[in-house]
Amino acid sequence: MSAILMPDTRGARPFGEYAALAADEIRERTFAAKRALGTRAVILGHHYQRESVIEFADFRGDSFKLAQLAANREGAEFIVFCGVHFMAESADVLRRDGQTVILPDVKAGCSMADMAGIEDVEDAWEHLARIHGDTITPVTYMNSTAALKAFCGERGGVVCTSSNAASVLEWAWARRRRVFFFPDQHLGRNTAFAMGVPLDAMAEWDWRATDPARVNERCFADEARIILWRGFCSVHTKFTKRQIDEVRAADPGVRVLVHPECPFDVVRSADRVGSTEFIIDQVRGAAPGTHWAIGTEVNLVHRLSLDYPEQNIHSLQKNVCPCATMNRIDPAHLLWTLENLSEGHVVNPIRVSEAVRQGARVALERMLSLGGSGALASAALARD
Ligand code: 13P
Ligand code: SF4
Repeated sequence: MSAILMPDTRGARPFGEYAALAADEIRERTFAAKRALGTRAVILGHHYQRESVIEFADFRGDSFKLAQLAANREGAEFIVFCGVHFMAESADVLRRDGQTVILPDVKAGCSMADMAGIEDVEDAWEHLARIHGDTITPVTYMNSTAALKAFCGERGGVVCTSSNAASVLEWAWARRRRVFFFPDQHLGRNTAFAMGVPLDAMAEWDWRATDPARVNERCFADEARIILWRGFCSVHTKFTKRQIDEVRAADPGVRVLVHPECPFDVVRSADRVGSTEFIIDQVRGAAPGTHWAIGTEVNLVHRLSLDYPEQNIHSLQKNVCPCATMNRIDPAHLLWTLENLSEGHVVNPIRVSEAVRQGARVALERMLSLGGSGALASAALARD
């Protein structure tokens, strides 16, 4: 590893130099900076990234695959993460000594992850543990802060992603009677229901309540097998059952394929449900002429329509907006990051504190050891 590049932004080029550059120049210079860095930097890209960013990714994936990739990038000095903050944090927890994870724009957060603040979770846990004692395993979706992952790791809990939620829940229920699942109520409910847990064995924890012990009364019942934090994804909750009814009425042969962050009634009436990687696999494996209405972030749907022109691919919702935070990673920020790196300046390093790292690593490694199990989750969630 080079001794020249230290995490030091003194002398770094300011982002302002890049904001007004023309798209062609940005593209050309990004290829050049990437070439100059060679194997010292690896670029990871989530499937929701726009075309003009993902074309530079050395590896693409869903959040499970990207966590695996980050844990196995021995050679690279820098992991440039084109995704959102919680993904870059997880990469920093899993990276090797001497590596640095960089997020081209630190404002690329996630509104769902922001819904589960560590203090609110600790407070809820205290209330629940008082009644349920040692019968609860905390399970956090990948879309959460490193502090929340550490909270789970320290209490015998684990992380899951949309591609392995069923196998993680199976693991958790084999150990203790109950699961406290955060932040995405929809992924928790959809997965648990597909695994045979009835809705009346699920309770929701309203984290905004001023009197949580009273408002969240159902969470204290002995029958509660899964307690769902009331978080949601602002992109996926825009999909509705009505949209499905409409696309089916207009095109009876259409296949509806959605992400499990969608609401319960959407998932129940879709033909197939799974992570972004699963969605891609379904389209890749389909016959030419297949019609799809896809309920997930629109950049991915758009890419699929370009990659598989022999199929008929549309978003389930017309005029859907992209995920605003994923889209903060734009070509100008990527170029700014790479040129600074190649000139010896590490801008936007993501560093999880040592106090948090250990517990978060336990929870993430526990998840990685359970595997992706996309097939199990998908089979459990598929309607047909
Ligand atoms: P995947 O795990 O399916 O990639 O979805 C993650 C996600 O919602 C990113 O926002
Ligand atoms: Fe967060 Fe939803 Fe955007 Fe994913 S799509 S980063 S869950 S807001």
